[in-house]
Amino acid sequence: MTIREAAPADAEQIIAHIQRVASEPERTILLGPGEFTLTAAQEREVLSEYGAADNAVYLVVEVDGGIVAVLSCSGGKRQATRHSASFGMSVAQEWRNKGVGTALLGRLVEWAEDSGIIRRLDLEVWAHNAAALHLYRKFGFVEEGRRREAYFLNGRFVDGILMARRLQLSGAGACPSRTVRRPEQSEAEGHVRPPAPKLPGDEE
Ligand SMILES: CC(C)(COP(=O)(O)OP(=O)(O)OC[C@H]1O[C@@H](n2cnc3c(N)ncnc32)[C@H](O)[C@@H]1OP(=O)(O)O)[C@@H](O)C(=O)NCCC(=O)NCCS
Repeated sequence: MTIREAAPADAEQIIAHIQRVASEPERTILLGPGEFTLTAAQEREVLSEYGAADNAVYLVVEVDGGIVAVLSCSGGKRQATRHSASFGMSVAQEWRNKGVGTALLGRLVEWAEDSGIIRRLDLEVWAHNAAALHLYRKFGFVEEGRRREAYFLNGRFVDGILMARRLQLSGAGACPSRTVRRPEQSEAEGHVRPPAPKLPGDEE
C-alpha cells in the first residue's frame, strides 16, 4: 500500500472511485449518484491546482496500481483563512475497516503539521456516519457545532456535525520544540497520532 500525492494522471481513477462511493445506497458523502460530473480534463486541472497550492493537498492510497482511497484538503484563499483547511475522504467499500482510513488521515496530519501554514483541520460529517465519527475522534477531532437537519437523505433529514482539530506546526514558523505524543492523549493535552497500522501489502 502506498500513500502519495495525487498527480493529474490519476484523474480517471479518482473519478471512478468517487462515482462508486457516490452510488452506494447508504449515503456517506455529499455527492449522490450521478452528481460527480467533472470530466477527466477538468479533474486533471483540479489536481494540478492542488499540486500547486502550498496549503492544499490531494492524497491517494494505491494498492497494486489501483486507487482505493482519496483525501482532499484545502486551506482558505485569504490571508485570514490560509491556516485553516477543510478535508473530505473516502475509502473504497471493500477496503474499509482495514486501517486504510487511519493511515490516510495520519498522513494528512503529518502533512499539515509539516506545512508551516496549516494550524487547523476541519470537516463536516453526518451524524449517522458512526465509522467516520469514530475515526475522527480517534485522531483528536472535537465537535464544534451541529447543523441541525441540514441535509435530506433517503427520505429523512440528517444533522451535519462540524469537527476540528488544532495542530502544532513543525515546519517553517513552527513552535521550537515538537511534543512527543501518546496516542491516547486528548486534544487538550496535545495531538493524537495513532501508530500507523500494518496493512495488507505493507512491507515488513
Ligand atoms: C470513514 C472511512 C473513511 C474510514 O475508513 P476506514 O479505512 O474504514 O478506516 P479504518 O479502518 O482505519 O478505521 C475505521 C475505524 O472505525 C471503526 N468502525 C467501523 N464501523 C464502525 C461503526 N459502525 N461504529 C463505530 N466505529 C466503527 C473501526 O472499528 C475502526 O476503528 P479502530 O481504528 O479503532 O479499530 C470509510 O468508512 C469510508 O470511506 N466511508 C465512506 C465515505 C465516508 O464516510 N467518508 C467520510 C465522510 S465525512
